Amino acid sequence: GTKRGAGKIEVAEPWNKLPASSLPTDPALYAGPFPFYRRPSELGCFSLDAQRQYHGDARALRYYCPPPTNGQSPNFDLRDGYPDRYRPRDEEVQERLDHLLCWVLEHRGRLEGGPGWLAGAIVTWRGHLTKLLTTPYERQEGWQLAASRFQGTLYLSEVETPAARAQRLTRPPLLQELMYMGYKFEQYMCADKPGGSTDPSGEVNTNVAFCSVLRSRLGNHPLLFSGEVDCIDPQAPTTQPPTCYVELKTSKEMRSPGQRKSFYRRKLLKWWAQSFLPGVPNVVAGFRNPEGFVCSLKTFRTMEMFEYVRNDRDGWNPSVCMNFCAAFLSFAQNTVVQDDPRLVYLFSWEPGSPVTVSEHRDAPHAFLPTWYVEAMTQ
Ligand code: A3P
Ligand code: MG
Ligand code: MG
Repeated sequence: GTKRGAGKIEVAEPWNKLPASSLPTDPALYAGPFPFYRRPSELGCFSLDAQRQYHGDARALRYYCPPPTNGQSPNFDLRDGYPDRYRPRDEEVQERLDHLLCWVLEHRGRLEGGPGWLAGAIVTWRGHLTKLLTTPYERQEGWQLAASRFQGTLYLSEVETPAARAQRLTRPPLLQELMYMGYKFEQYMCADKPGGSTDPSGEVNTNVAFCSVLRSRLGNHPLLFSGEVDCIDPQAPTTQPPTCYVELKTSKEMRSPGQRKSFYRRKLLKWWAQSFLPGVPNVVAGFRNPEGFVCSLKTFRTMEMFEYVRNDRDGWNPSVCMNFCAAFLSFAQNTVVQDDPRLVYLFSWEPGSPVTVSEHRDAPHAFLPTWYVEAMTQ
């Protein structure tokens, strides 16, 4: 007999028509032209209050209020108030898509795009899409995304990996303080009212959030996603969201060319992915010294971030990020065929491996709540 596999022609076999069972993530596979990405438009917003309660309005929106630029540099003590004026959100509560679904339910009858638009869309958090964008370059943290189809719409909801959970539960005190410092910076840079002043004497409560709900499209995938917005610039050239929004970030002061290079390669990629998706044009960075004081500010334009790595062989490429994301969305669309809110496909990824998928039913992975499914079925 012949050797196994010798002369085998791999075309037109029926199993070639089954959905792919895994998706590679190597950057080289996703080079090529930048895919179509519709200019994101804001459909609406919602707020979460100090008790993490949902409100269908902008009550939690804060106003960009940078320190006067009179030659003096800022001197923000990011450790001030820690831990006594820190009210951290309870991270044990898995909110999944709930707050976003609340908004969708409230607005489903009057979504732009006309009747049927939602049925062809993907609904998710901006943060989940950010993780997809950075996947081809990520070497540390894997992810899991649960997917269900319901009334045509594909819903994507992140699942905390066992490794991420273990890290969160054993987070060293220094990392906990570092998390606080990121939020403390927001307090130094934002006022509660337009034209108001900042008040760093208050508490930092990370339950509070303002979320923008956006519509876009990547390739042929219509998107409805929501992302937390740090503040609005009342002085922005245009008052139309999301163009008037500002993202705030902290980072370690850079003291050497090596530190700069690593900042452009790792951090700027994450900052770009997070702000490009919702169309937030500017990221204001506060650089902190080893004592935890922000002594300098710098505005990075989202659309110019790629310039810092354009000529870097080990840099990132926006086309790769977006092409991979589009490929993942197609992979998910082709995998999740059955329309059933109790059926869940779990997409899992670890650095160095392709994305794999497994099938589940009901608890613990089903994530579309009964209140949502029932109200949408009315
Ligand atoms: P910095 O990123 O400025 O340090 P965001 O920048 O997305 O508005 O998030 C505000 C802050 O939340 C961050 O500030 C950081 O302190 C904390 N944070 C956000 N994502 C985090 C993550 N994945 N791990 C740890 N802290 C995070
Ligand atoms: Mg934020
Ligand atoms: Mg921020």
